[in-house]
Amino acid sequence: MAESFIISGETKREKYQALLPQLKSLTEGETDLIANLGNIIAALKQTFNFFWIGMYFVKEDTLVLGPFQGPVACTRIAFGKGVCGSAWKEKRTMIVPDVDQFPGHIACSNASKSEIVVPAFNKRREVVLVLDIDSDKRNDFDQDDEKYLMEVVGVIEKLLISE
Ligand code: SME
Repeated sequence: MAESFIISGETKREKYQALLPQLKSLTEGETDLIANLGNIIAALKQTFNFFWIGMYFVKEDTLVLGPFQGPVACTRIAFGKGVCGSAWKEKRTMIVPDVDQFPGHIACSNASKSEIVVPAFNKRREVVLVLDIDSDKRNDFDQDDEKYLMEVVGVIEKLLISE
């Protein structure tokens, strides 16, 4: 239930560990996909106050902006372009500690300094969306973020399957 969404925890790990079961309870009473994805993004933003967090859906040969929190963003990203398009092409999580060192980075905002992109897959191992998180600090994402955000994406993949 949205009213009872409270995250406690001192460390990043503790926050992720408190967040994950709540994502499940936050979404289990609702069948609408966009409503659930919007709340998952909001819950992550509320917990970690990321500079920008959102998702891009694979639509034919392009990524198209979905639910997000943060400054206005690019609406479309081509296959293989930027960090999001690369994570789609390479079918893997990408951590970029310094976006200025990433060839072809798409700067939706000059304030973005580091980012992590985690793809979500369907049953045929095709990428169906990417979760994109940007920080205004360099080196802001590590293996813990990767591990727990892949679990978040696991929750999202279940919602996509039950659509
Ligand atoms: N940073 C992304 C573009 C999307 S925005 O930052 C919201 C990229 O290079 O894929």
